[in-house]
Parts: sequence; structure tokens; C-alpha cells
Amino acid sequence: FLIIFIKSKLMDNILITGVGSYLPDKIILNDSLPSELNTSDEWIRKRTGITQRHIVSENELTSTMAIEASKKALINANLNSKEIDLVILATTTPDNTFPATAVKVQSELNMKTGPAFDIQAVCAGFIYALKVASSILQTSNLNKAIVIGSESFSKILDWNDRSTSVLFGDGAGAVILEKYKDYNNWGLLSSNFYSDGNFSNILYTDNGPGTDSKVGKVRMNGKEVFKHAVDKLSSCLIDVIKDANLSIEDINYLIPHQANNRIIDSLSKKLNFPKDKIINTVDIHANTSAASIPLAFSHAVENKIIKNGDIIAMNAIGGGLSWGASVIKFGKPN
Ligand code: ACO
Repeated sequence: FLIIFIKSKLMDNILITGVGSYLPDKIILNDSLPSELNTSDEWIRKRTGITQRHIVSENELTSTMAIEASKKALINANLNSKEIDLVILATTTPDNTFPATAVKVQSELNMKTGPAFDIQAVCAGFIYALKVASSILQTSNLNKAIVIGSESFSKILDWNDRSTSVLFGDGAGAVILEKYKDYNNWGLLSSNFYSDGNFSNILYTDNGPGTDSKVGKVRMNGKEVFKHAVDKLSSCLIDVIKDANLSIEDINYLIPHQANNRIIDSLSKKLNFPKDKIINTVDIHANTSAASIPLAFSHAVENKIIKNGDIIAMNAIGGGLSWGASVIKFGKPN
């Protein structure tokens, strides 16, 4: 306890003071999916809980969505973009191989200084980005960051493969991080991240990002991914709650990766985590990869479910396999 006390006194606190999101206008209902897929609303709802997904239009990019989500997060945090000195964007679907999509956000928001870069940890990207951003703020003279998850996953789906194409959607979510002294027990309370490349063959794309003008498409062994998802999401969540010196009862809301209701239900059963404390937007957003957690977070804040001072746990897993979890106390002391 003494070590934790001293550590909390020495380290700056990284508060999460704003959240925003963006969804493309175009919605595809299960019944409106291409008939060649030979799928059905009933199959998709029963196996996943998904009823619809938002899909980018031709002129929408991962950066376009990231910029809109960032603007809303800035308003929510009551900040001007010029006050931000770090941009980290988690994505598997960048606009270009380079430059990083994060620099487009930086430029569009008229931010002149500070580093901006992308993180690639697929569906766990937002958890990774949150950890990296908070570590950078704590070890540098930078004070405020935008952390974004933005994905145009529809562009890397094989629309002839019903076992993957029905599962994903597009969108973006962003949060604002601010460094403060003396706001102990607010902000990011604990976080962890893991990878195991031995499982890189159960969820991957079958080509590079347009290396030979053929964009790689998502390939997945769904049953294997499902098994790992439940095990790894549970273990990283237990660890992160313990590291924050909390118990499951202390968590006001869990925002799990929004992949699939059956994974979320299994997680809830395994940990005895009450379902009414789980934020679930799988039905309306589908799986938006790195955007899934900040999108669900933003949805819950907008709908006044999550409030200032709530303790929130988040966990995600995706290709890699890569996974991890965070616990935060949301907002700022009044
Ligand atoms: N519509 C209709 N039938 C389908 C569809 C579809 N969209 N997709 C597969 N099927 C068929 C299969 O062809 C198979 O038919 P068959 O029995 O005649 O061979 C049958 O349905 C059962 O297929 P399974 O793959 O065994 O179905 P399963 O019960 O495993 O459900 C699912 C598939 C939903 C993908 C499940 O494995 C799952 O949820 N896995 C987790 C994967 C996930 O969510 N990944 C997202 C990325 S990773 C992450 O975010 C965690």
C-alpha cells in the first residue's frame, strides 16, 4: 500500500475529460446485405446480436471520421484543438500506407506542434493507444492528447465471404486525455496489454495494404477466435481491476470490445459481471475494430448512462492476437 501511495503521489494523473464519435450516414440492415451472401437477419441476430452496420460512402475516409469524432471530443472536453499536443490514432484501415492518418487529423484541426502517429493493434488498438498516450504524457512535457479509434473496415472485407463480412462496420470514436497533478484516483487507474503472435493465423488479412494493388481481405477462424476472446478478455479484465485495487463491484460500467453478443454474454457469465452494467452497442454498430470501445463509450455518455466520476473498465481483443484492458475514473473533479 505504501508503494502504491508513493507512486500515486509521484505520477501525474491522466484524466479522460471528453469523448466524441462519428458514424457514416449509410446504414446497411441485415436484410439489405447483398443477396449473393446467402445469409439472413435471423442467422446474424442469433449468432452475433448485430442488426445493422454503418458503412463509409465513397468520399469518407478513416481520417474524415477521425476528424469529426475528435472535434466532438474537444467540444465535450471544452478544449480548443490548439491546446492538444499529442495525437494517437488506432486503426487497421489507414487512408494511406504513409503518412500516418493521425497527421491528417493534426493538420485538419490546425494543430501546429506535437507528435502524431498511428497504432496498429487491430481491435485492441484503442486500449493500446490509451496506454501509450498516457505513458507519453507521464514521461514528457506534453500535457493534452487526443486518442482516436477510427476504421473503414468495410474496405478490407471479402463481400463474398458471409462468415466475416456480416460482422463488421465503420465508424470512429475519440477521447481527450489531460495531465493533472493532485487529482489522485481520477483518470486512467490501471491498464495492461498483451500479444501472442502464435495465433496470428486465426485472424489476419491475406495480403498487404495494397502492396501489389490487391488489398488484403479479412480471414478468420471464428470458433478459435471465440474461444480465445472469452478467456483472454476475462483474464486481462480481472488483472486490470486488481491492479487498480478495485473489485468487480466497484466498476460502474464495463465497455467490452463490441464484437459479438455471445462473447459479451460468456464474459458476463464467466466473471459474474451484471449484464445491466455492460455497455452494449453491438446491435447498432457491429464490430468496428479499434473504434468499437470509444464509439460505445461516446454513445453511453451522450445517452447520459455514463456520467462524470463513473468507474469504467474496458477490454478488447483482436488480430495478433492482441488484447488488453483499462480502468478509468471518467471526467474531472467538480
Ligand atoms: N449466414 C448464414 N450462415 C452462415 C454465416 C452467415 N453470415 N456465416 C457462417 N454461416 C454458416 C457456416 O457456413 C456453417 O454452415 P455449415 O454448418 O453448413 O457448414 C454454419 O453457419 C455454422 O458456422 P460456424 O462458423 O460454425 O458458426 P459459429 O456458430 O461458429 O458462428 C461466428 C460464427 C459468429 C463468427 C462465431 O464463430 C463467432 O462469434 N466468433 C467470434 C469471432 C468474432 O467475433 N470475430 C470478430 C473479430 S475478432 C474480435 O473482434 C474478437
